Amino acid sequence: MRQYIIAGNWKMNKTVSESVKLAQEIVQQVKDIKKTEVVIAPTFLAAAKVADVIKGTNVKLAVQDVHYEDQGAYTGKISVDMVKEIGAEYIIIGHSEQRQYFHETNETVNLKVKKTLAAGLKPIICIGETLAEREGGKLESVLQAQVEGAYKDVSAEDALKTVIAYEPVWAIGTGVVATDEQAQDTQKFVRSLVEKLYGASVAGALRIQYGGSMKPDNAAGLLAQNDIDGGLIGGAALKADSFFAIIAAAEAR
Ligand code: 13P
Repeated sequence: MRQYIIAGNWKMNKTVSESVKLAQEIVQQVKDIKKTEVVIAPTFLAAAKVADVIKGTNVKLAVQDVHYEDQGAYTGKISVDMVKEIGAEYIIIGHSEQRQYFHETNETVNLKVKKTLAAGLKPIICIGETLAEREGGKLESVLQAQVEGAYKDVSAEDALKTVIAYEPVWAIGTGVVATDEQAQDTQKFVRSLVEKLYGASVAGALRIQYGGSMKPDNAAGLLAQNDIDGGLIGGAALKADSFFAIIAAAEAR
């Protein structure tokens, strides 16, 4: 059985002191969570302080992006080694906001995925279609290009260390959540893409999160779907109570 993974993507929210406080609250709330993997992704600025707060607890650290070069003259960027040193385990790669606003492409996603894996860290690879793409009949071709692009030259063994987050762009931050069936159907399709690349055993083991307006009141329905193995949570991850309610829904499965 695939272990549920609930990750909070804090995006550009929370100062360092606010991040520390939220991390402390989450640590407190999830201390008895045993089955579900809990991950939080603060800003780069807060990540090292948050790492100290969650050290030795059952909460793991992610960051929200990374650069694909090792080091050098890349003003404003952060390398995998820097992320690794503070104890992060996951790196969110290819978020639709990165694709939309910061020129992320399937090619840069692939470079970042390979760099992350080479350092022994785990990518959370975000994919998803816009409303225009879905309505224009391009859902499957967009997802196929994103999945094939992200995993280009990635071995099956490494692919197993990755997590995919399916986040329909039209559901992110809008309050419009995909229905349980829409999410399930799409994620089943995504798993079939992984199967085409790596075979049934990798596809059966690889975890696929849903993201996009996942909240305490819709989490149980989504998490009950066969191909939904967790959530990548934005807004509802910014308060310990609502984040915990989603974690509890996963833990209760
Ligand atoms: P919301 O939960 O705010 O819709 O954000 C989802 C998301 O983009 C997580 O990465």
